[in-house]
Amino acid sequence: ASTHDTAARTAEVLVASNRGPVSYEVGEDGSLHAKRGGGGLVSGLSAIGPDAGALWVCSALSDGDREAVRRGVGEDGVRMLAVPADVHADAYNGIANSVLWFVHHLLYQTPLEPAFDAEFRRRWASYETYNRAFAQALAEEAADGAAVLVQDYHLCLVPGMLRELRPDLRIGHFSHTPWAPVDYFALLPADIREQLLHGMLGADRLGFLTRRWADAFAACCTEFAGGPGKTRIGVHGLGADADFLRERAHRPDVDERLAELRTEIGEGRKAIVRVDRTELSKNIVRGLLAYRQLLEDRPQWRERVVHVAFAYPSRQDLAVYRDYMAEVQRLSEEINEQYGTPGWTPVLLNLKDDFARSLAAYRLADVALVNPIRDGMNLVAKEVPVVSEEGCALVLSREAGAYWELRDDAITVNPYDILETARALHEGLSMEPQERAERTKRLAAAATALPPAKWFLDQLTALREIQPA
Ligand code: G6P
Repeated sequence: ASTHDTAARTAEVLVASNRGPVSYEVGEDGSLHAKRGGGGLVSGLSAIGPDAGALWVCSALSDGDREAVRRGVGEDGVRMLAVPADVHADAYNGIANSVLWFVHHLLYQTPLEPAFDAEFRRRWASYETYNRAFAQALAEEAADGAAVLVQDYHLCLVPGMLRELRPDLRIGHFSHTPWAPVDYFALLPADIREQLLHGMLGADRLGFLTRRWADAFAACCTEFAGGPGKTRIGVHGLGADADFLRERAHRPDVDERLAELRTEIGEGRKAIVRVDRTELSKNIVRGLLAYRQLLEDRPQWRERVVHVAFAYPSRQDLAVYRDYMAEVQRLSEEINEQYGTPGWTPVLLNLKDDFARSLAAYRLADVALVNPIRDGMNLVAKEVPVVSEEGCALVLSREAGAYWELRDDAITVNPYDILETARALHEGLSMEPQERAERTKRLAAAATALPPAKWFLDQLTALREIQPA
């Protein structure tokens, strides 16, 4: 029996995601400190607010989070689930980030991986347990006929599980990632494919960031699940939060970092800026190779440009991510040794998460490099034009979801083509100031067309309009 009493069925709107809006740290004196996270979903949900009877169900991820759950500490409107740490690790690292993320971003190096063995099956059982914990918590908390919005690839089985427990609910699921093409999704074992698709099809409505990902999902349903059935599919292209960004980017801490960065870059030099989690799909290494090619082929840029690359640590429990981070570091150093001069460091690599410094970089960037192998949307491509002071040329991968909204005014590239990317960097650096400013204005307008709060409310409205079966 659950410790949570079923009379708690009061929430009218529920969000479920692996990473929640808040996390806790245990201080030296044993006290707990809450840290609020950022990102589109967090600002989107603030449109609803705890007053409206909304509840966010998320995982306890850190030791501090687990301690908060143990002590019964929490915020109104947030319920953290402390599934056993090993179950979470297998579900999050072992399945969500190593299998599902890889499938949707086409990251496998197929001669060696994937290999679906007994260890995979063991982890899959944890993924089921983890999803069931969410379904149960949501079932306990949701009021009659409430709307539940489940987020992302960590929780694909939740809609189907929740539907069985609570047929009265209106259930939505949103994918913040791309969706794999049929031939790549086919790498998964047949029963796993079916579980994933049927799990998601337990929702009344599924959301994707672009038509391309929605079509890919529908194609997988046709191929492996006899079609999408009664589940509706919608496209909601999450945009940048202009009000938040403009205000945040002009606070004193950002001004300070802007001055520091200007000094580090050096007088009269241009800046090529990128900001990413150190993520395999972001293609940071090929970005560095393209920058090196630019310096090689066009010596006029030597000493005249700096590549300011933010590569924040991410998913460091996984060896491939650690190796990738090491390669980013190694290559940056190599470029600096090869081309650097006493007064000029060609690559400024930033490995520490510093939001204020990245906003400062957005303000001064001459060129923004956004070259993912594949990306659900990529919000950096949408944020830079909003914050840029003098206009910034955007070099943008054709495989980012944002491509479909920004392609008219971006310089678009095949992310695998290093020579093309090097040429695009040159084109961006050479763009006339007026053209750059005009393009940036249009990019900013396209990038903010669907702010997070509206993105969220549109989905909620669409879900509520569906008549219960
Ligand atoms: C992507 C996913 C999110 C995830 C984020 C950060 O944007 O769609 O669900 O939260 O990456 O990754 P992390 O593993 O640190 O939560």
